[in-house]
Amino acid sequence: MNIKRVGIVGSGTMGSGIAEVACKNGYEVILRSRSQAGADGMVKGLEKSLGKQVDKGKLAEAERDAALALVRGVTDLEELAECDLVVESVVEDLAVKKELFAALDKICAAHTILATNTSTLPVVEMAVATERPHQICGIHFFNPAPMMGLVEVVRAITSSDETVEAALAFAQSCGKGPIEVRGAMKAGANMPMGPFALIDLVGVDVTVAILDALYAENPDPFLQPAQHLRRMLSAGRLGRKSGQGFYDYTKR
Ligand SMILES: NC(=O)c1ccc[n+]([C@@H]2O[C@H](COP(=O)([O-])OP(=O)(O)OC[C@H]3O[C@@H](n4cnc5c(N)ncnc54)[C@H](O)[C@@H]3O)[C@@H](O)[C@H]2O)c1
Repeated sequence: MNIKRVGIVGSGTMGSGIAEVACKNGYEVILRSRSQAGADGMVKGLEKSLGKQVDKGKLAEAERDAALALVRGVTDLEELAECDLVVESVVEDLAVKKELFAALDKICAAHTILATNTSTLPVVEMAVATERPHQICGIHFFNPAPMMGLVEVVRAITSSDETVEAALAFAQSCGKGPIEVRGAMKAGANMPMGPFALIDLVGVDVTVAILDALYAENPDPFLQPAQHLRRMLSAGRLGRKSGQGFYDYTKR
């Protein structure tokens, strides 16, 4: 997918940093804040930050001007309609983010990828607030975004390969070293297969039954199956045996 226009929602620390990263790397950036003062403040902040880099000899004046020419501050969410990618970085509150995703889903073009910069919230909860759950993922920049090299691309169980690939390519084109987070247990904890792949192999039904039996024997809340496992069971997403679990086995 060819990403050219990026929408940023949220004019705080992270929204401003991500906007700077995107415009410096040639993306047209539409910054959306709830107030005109917020939108203007973000653009001013960008001018100031890029100006400092020019003063320090880290950025040419022409590069600053080219980056700033790509940025527009707006208040109307509808202005994001034609973005190829929207990254939200509003307050860390699931109810606020879900409402935002539902609104963006109605406004944005069919091809638009919607991403969240959340640090802790479940991406899938935002995905299911939309009619395009396969086009939702996490793109988690670190603070300060212009300086930090790592970007975590978070694959929700609903995210398509195309969405994750586009998010990784976007972060890479911004000069970052993105990793896909679902691989962290293999790469970071040296597990031969991640815990979710293992549940898919064992079977979600079997896993729930095992945990229920353990809990009946020893009612420790940590042994209770997660709600999400029960939902997967209800939906018949049993893992490899049904073709779909945390991962999709129908195309393998
Ligand atoms: N600060 C960090 O180090 C860091 C790092 C990575 C990711 N994050 C994530 O980035 C997101 C934003 O964090 P931040 O540090 O930029 O916060 P911030 O407080 O600087 O900015 C939050 C923005 O959300 C806006 N906002 C508040 N309530 C809102 C509402 N109801 N609707 C729409 N917008 C609203 C605020 O006006 C502000 O512009 C969070 O999800 C956070 O978890 C933060």
